[in-house]
Amino acid sequence: MTNEAAAHEPSLENLLHENRSFPPSAEFAAQANGTPDLYADARADRLAFWSRQATELVSWRKPFTEVLDWSQAPVARWFADGTLNACWNAVDRHVVAGHGDRVAIHFEGEPGDTRTLTYADLQREVSRAANALAALGVHTGDRVVIYLPMIPEAVIAMLACARLGAPHSLVFGGFSADALRSRIDDAGARLVITADGGYRRGAATALKPAVDDALAPRDGVESTVEHVLVVRRTGQETAMAEHRDVWWHEATEVADVQHEPVWVEAEHPLFILYTSGTTGKPKGILHTTGGYLTQAAYTHRYVFDLKPETDVYWCTADVGWVTGHTYVTYGPLVNGATQVMYEGTPDTPHQGRWWEIVEKYKVSILYTAPTAIRTCMKWGSEVPAKFDLSSLRVLGSVGEPINPEAWMWYRRVIGGDRCPVVDTWWQTETGAIMISPLPGVTHAKPGSAQVPLPGIVADVIDDEGKPVPDGGGGYLVLTEPWPAMLRGIWGDLERFKDTYWSRFPDIYFAGDGAKKDEDGDVWLLGRVDDVMNVSGHRLSTTEIESALVSHDAVAEAAVVGALDETTGQAVVAFVILRGEAAAALEATGGDQDAIVAQLRDHVGKQIGPIAKPKRILVVPELPKTRSGKIMRRLLRDVAENRAVGDATTLADASVMALISTGLNKPK
Ligand code: WT7
Repeated sequence: MTNEAAAHEPSLENLLHENRSFPPSAEFAAQANGTPDLYADARADRLAFWSRQATELVSWRKPFTEVLDWSQAPVARWFADGTLNACWNAVDRHVVAGHGDRVAIHFEGEPGDTRTLTYADLQREVSRAANALAALGVHTGDRVVIYLPMIPEAVIAMLACARLGAPHSLVFGGFSADALRSRIDDAGARLVITADGGYRRGAATALKPAVDDALAPRDGVESTVEHVLVVRRTGQETAMAEHRDVWWHEATEVADVQHEPVWVEAEHPLFILYTSGTTGKPKGILHTTGGYLTQAAYTHRYVFDLKPETDVYWCTADVGWVTGHTYVTYGPLVNGATQVMYEGTPDTPHQGRWWEIVEKYKVSILYTAPTAIRTCMKWGSEVPAKFDLSSLRVLGSVGEPINPEAWMWYRRVIGGDRCPVVDTWWQTETGAIMISPLPGVTHAKPGSAQVPLPGIVADVIDDEGKPVPDGGGGYLVLTEPWPAMLRGIWGDLERFKDTYWSRFPDIYFAGDGAKKDEDGDVWLLGRVDDVMNVSGHRLSTTEIESALVSHDAVAEAAVVGALDETTGQAVVAFVILRGEAAAALEATGGDQDAIVAQLRDHVGKQIGPIAKPKRILVVPELPKTRSGKIMRRLLRDVAENRAVGDATTLADASVMALISTGLNKPK
């Protein structure tokens, strides 16, 4: 781990030179939801603080009397004797409060089609969908897998599940049939909700065939899925299995527009979301209802300074990721916000599409990822300059460390130097934002996520578990339970304890390296484990290595995340070919193009296009320690075109020379 942390030193060095600071304007501070008092209140009595948030921001069927039960640590119980329904909180209560006419979602399809859904519309649609799901046999507690493009039905489907107390598990549309199958099987899902296809880069891309593939019996074993609900989005030719597949519009058309939500206990599972870990098998991160909704609503209100009556909020994340769960579906809707939802890519049909959308809907709060910001920087400042972005007032960033240069560009070019930028650190596991500036309160620094939010307790500790002094670096940990924390890994309590709570006893280890500056502000430095971050998406080196070695031509594989200007990290794979494939390569005079293309496609099929390595290098050997552990640090040196670092612990020190010569051999 120490070696891995050391590999991040260059970025640490850069950050040490960053000392710009942006105090909030008096004007912004005067109207901000956040105040310095919030920190003081939370410090004075943390549990009373959370109890207040849960009461003020969430509505309960039966009020809770107990705030936190930590007696079964590390599985927390928050607000456990209260009952509520997440869908009621996100939809019905706004209608009851007289806001039925408020727009909940401005939908913009990639081809330019639009739809507007008010809270009253949403109430009708979620009720119909919940009735349709129930008619298909979905009961409270059953798992439903959702595999949809970014269309309103994705949000409606999630909320309909929540209405029934049936935990949903979203699988990002960019994942392959194999990845979908393993998630369906692990969750033991009863129903899948999908679409014929969606629009991406100007074309209709099919989704349903992947579902058919994922549900085909394998080794004589039938899938647990009984029905597939299919949304018609593109109208493309779609095969429907008799008795199993049902069109969404047919099922919801005939369904009643009234539906009584199922009131569940606060600790009832709300969703499972799979994410990559350090091993090959994705982890089903489990979130429950009361605590999750509380922190989702609280962070959305204070971090983005949300004013539900006047703001137009837009989070560009796909609902298939946790950002989409918390900051497209639950946070904004529980807060009664008006939001924009966009289906497609930022450059379809032109590179100004996002800024056109900001102008069109007068977006005031924008939440996106550093990789998108860097891509826009590359396209040039003249693109956003063509649009009126004066409606913007708060800008958010999430998913990976944001380099000060991108932060400054975001603030200046997109935010007109007037909008606070909030760099928000959190994870699928934390459920909601944990470390972030508070607009109107903190003095923002380009590249720093700054301080734990009021109510959150975090620290940076060294190898021995001791807090590092200001100016020092180490591991980011969370030292007190928080309401939206994961309640475990689906079906694997031991793995939950092992992954997060064993590195430092009784402390949550996030897997990130971090540094505290002289003011005690936190700077995130990237992962210290075998997890990569490509365009803000988490990928496991082991998972991609397993995919590679599952190909007939590959004997061994090692994967590293190499620094990349646009995507943060890029997947670089080193492979050793098997005898026959190696001989075939030799016969072509060492031309790797064909085999590399095959292997990239293979990874795309096994995991999904997002996991395809940017570079694959065929090598004769891999650098290993005497105990057989691959030294990824050295491969990263090669991948990042650096002089290879200390290789003295290698079992065979000549290996690195072999790899480097092999790479330099002219084609
Ligand atoms: C990992 C979690 C949280 C939603 C998106 C990703 C990295 C996330 C930041 C940030 C530096 C960040 C961390 C973390 N990360 N936000 N603001 N600054 N790093 O969720 O897929 O669960 O990934 O993303 O490495 O551990 P995720």
